[in-house]
Amino acid sequence: MSEIENGGAEDVVRIFDTTLRDGEQSPGASLTSAEKLEVAWQLARLGVDVLEAGFPAASPDDFAAVQQIARTVGVAGAERRRPPIITALGRATVEDIETTWRAVEPADRPRIHTLLSTSDIHMAKKLGMTRAQVLDRVEKMVTYARGLCPDVEFSPEDASRSDVDFLVEVLTIAIACGAGTLNITDTVGYATPVEYGNLMAHLRAVTPGADKVVWSVHCHDDLGMATANSLAGIAAGARQAEVTINGIGERAGNASLEELVMALATRSDHYRCRTGIDTRELTPTSHLVSRLTGLAVAPNKAIVGENAFSHESGIHQDGMLKDKRTYEIMTAATVGQDKTRLVLGKHSGRHGFKVRMAELGFPLEGAELAAAFSRFKDLADRKKYLTDADLTGLCGGAA
Ligand code: KIV
Ligand code: ZN
Repeated sequence: MSEIENGGAEDVVRIFDTTLRDGEQSPGASLTSAEKLEVAWQLARLGVDVLEAGFPAASPDDFAAVQQIARTVGVAGAERRRPPIITALGRATVEDIETTWRAVEPADRPRIHTLLSTSDIHMAKKLGMTRAQVLDRVEKMVTYARGLCPDVEFSPEDASRSDVDFLVEVLTIAIACGAGTLNITDTVGYATPVEYGNLMAHLRAVTPGADKVVWSVHCHDDLGMATANSLAGIAAGARQAEVTINGIGERAGNASLEELVMALATRSDHYRCRTGIDTRELTPTSHLVSRLTGLAVAPNKAIVGENAFSHESGIHQDGMLKDKRTYEIMTAATVGQDKTRLVLGKHSGRHGFKVRMAELGFPLEGAELAAAFSRFKDLADRKKYLTDADLTGLCGGAA
């Protein structure tokens, strides 16, 4: 049994939103500076703890957008609660770290986030660096970043495919040089939940100074396991989760903020962790990000999809009408969706039909109900979507 499952007090998991950095790396999802600012304000309303605003060294536009977010969303206002930590990513070079610092510095609580690959394949093929050179660079660059900013996060890129003993060496140096957050990346979405949870547990157990830092999860969804992996990392003691709205991000995307937050909230009996997220803002935030990035949300997407609280089959509708808890583990209102919808289609039953017809002004009973229900089934077999006009038409038009 893990330390989380054994009934300990609830812990807080910090939500680090990277929609504007990793999320914006989704093919075709680029945002203007004004759009980034709009998303950043909404993320602050949602209550994220850390907001990764971009990659300032990537372009002058990105730099300007991050700096503007740091100056506005990152600063306490008269009527606003504590602003989020504003961070941005930079490679482990003096130039990137210095640029990142200039962009985030205006925030009340700035953070420099720097990365360097630690897997053999990345070091050999991408960086052309030896292990010794990587260790040396981490030491120099984390120290340099700490000289500029009191809050530094270090990410060993491709951590889940790295040699574990070497990863421990790298992380030991990062801690000794002052990194306060260590982000364990599953950069290519390769790990399984058990592997990722075990890796997190092992790193926390053997890395000297592990108890002085916050451990973070950062998982990609190439095999559809990003949320499961992130939760496995949290069960193993990570207390920061890097996520994006709607799960957007490189390739198949990142772990989705709304899924992770609602898993922790709905299964707090299991994880014994909570977040500071205002869950009623989840759906409005999802809609905003979808509209601005042009990336549609699938109807069956967990939590924020249009069908996440819709029920069509007769058996389910009957249960829902008797007690919503039969088929819903959270309410639509909790996540900012309008309401539960009972959708009438060919799988629907008499109970759902009767209730919906009464809502439309046709309180049917007995033989009248039986006849209208039979006409409804005929129509539903022929038509995919039944509108309210189709339903009232079964009884001769509007009530
Ligand atoms: O996926 C990844 O490894 C990243 C790091 C840069 C944090 O996005
Ligand atoms: Zn990533």
